[in-house]
Amino acid sequence: MASDLADLLSDSAAALIEGTPKRLFIGGCWVTPASEDRFDVDDPADGTIIAGVADGSPADAIKCIDAAEAAASTWSSHSPRSRSDILMECFHAMHRRAEDLAVLISVESGKALTDARAEVSYAAEFFRWFAEEAVRIPGDLGLAPFGTGRIAVQHQPVGISLLITPWNFPAAMAARKIAPALAAGCTCILKPAAETPLTALALAEIVHEAGAPPGTLNVLTTSRPAEAVKVMLDDGRIRKLSFTGSTSVGKLLLRQAAEHVVNCSMELGGNAPFIVFDDADIDAALNGALTAKMRNAGETCIAANRFLVQSDVYEAFAAKLAERMNRIVVGRGRYTATECGPLISKNALEKVSTLVDQAAVHGGRILTGGGTLESDGYYYPPTVIADVDPGSEILNREIFGPVAPLVRFDSEDQAIRLANDTEYGLAAYIFTRDVQKGLRVADRIDAGMVAINRGSLSDVAAPFGGMKHSGIGREGGTYGILEYLETKYISISW
Ligand code: SIN
Repeated sequence: MASDLADLLSDSAAALIEGTPKRLFIGGCWVTPASEDRFDVDDPADGTIIAGVADGSPADAIKCIDAAEAAASTWSSHSPRSRSDILMECFHAMHRRAEDLAVLISVESGKALTDARAEVSYAAEFFRWFAEEAVRIPGDLGLAPFGTGRIAVQHQPVGISLLITPWNFPAAMAARKIAPALAAGCTCILKPAAETPLTALALAEIVHEAGAPPGTLNVLTTSRPAEAVKVMLDDGRIRKLSFTGSTSVGKLLLRQAAEHVVNCSMELGGNAPFIVFDDADIDAALNGALTAKMRNAGETCIAANRFLVQSDVYEAFAAKLAERMNRIVVGRGRYTATECGPLISKNALEKVSTLVDQAAVHGGRILTGGGTLESDGYYYPPTVIADVDPGSEILNREIFGPVAPLVRFDSEDQAIRLANDTEYGLAAYIFTRDVQKGLRVADRIDAGMVAINRGSLSDVAAPFGGMKHSGIGREGGTYGILEYLETKYISISW
């Protein structure tokens, strides 16, 4: 494990946490809940408590809706250009505060500082992208087929938006929702994950200072998300729900949202296949595997979850992957040498460890990793398991950890069958030198996103989202803003 003898960053990290707001952000003000309740945020590197954050109640949730409602008509009548200018200022402000934000993300989520820095830049790009989109909201004017009039189509803000974000990308997932919501002219309520509220509060400060009027963005931190979210969805004024998180919670929210027919975007779990054909450039495939598996210690919904490798290159790929994974430096996220930080929680650690143990019991060969690391933190060693039994739980669950299970295949058809043998359909990776084969396989894979000869997919300019149980709707790209707009047709007698 990595260690810096003098933890030079620890004092500045403590000062940073001290200086980050810890109250609710409602109607442009930092608000203490009436109960004065707080919940603890811990450092996954050692389990110590790093901050106490305001614990919003269902009553506070309703205050957030009141504030968003009060600001709605002012914000939607702001010109697109002025909305755009505010979002562009958020982009610049994030860059000015990039290092502080990266340390904050690293401390509360545990991720390696290099991943945290990349996240800040990814998050800032959403503000820039949607600043550009705010002034390009599309519309249409057409002639009715029988010449009876004109068909005008315009888009208007869908209304108050509830944005629920996960802990694995506390800045990027919040930015990917806040920026298009504000660009479209919607006011919103952000409910960040209880594990990583500090980054969300720092972002609220940035959006506020960039000039977003009071009530346009409200932040509800809470340790009782189920209660607070239910109250908001039952209220009837929320018109949009955008959720990133697990499929099981997504399904529950869809049921709750049905009562008031709330417009939903759902970015849910994944079980990405990483397919290596025997004609692939093996070094490129290994580099891609490391990226697709180890970004954020494997805690991403698009992480390669199952490595399907063609028989002729199977043993060589497995051995080289094990060798590369074995060299990864595990340690506290903000140590400079760290490549893989701790997992988010003790529960997460236990889940990953159980999945690996079960796979081994069913005949999987652990080529590197497995077992436990001596630490108070939630560390799991980078692990490669070969010959995983097709019935193993690890091939059917989102691992969310630094573990690569390998399965052998012989033919293209078999690879596709294995790849699609899951309820999920978020991401897939294909490595082959045969471009036609790559495109043919990409067509037949049930996934919202497919990478060919690349280990990364995330791009603010691309539509991010899944098929099947992986979700509904797309975030980012030119599609992202449409999720916050409602289409209106006006029939005109010209
Ligand atoms: C996620 O894991 O939820 C998002 C990953 C990404 O946007 O790259």
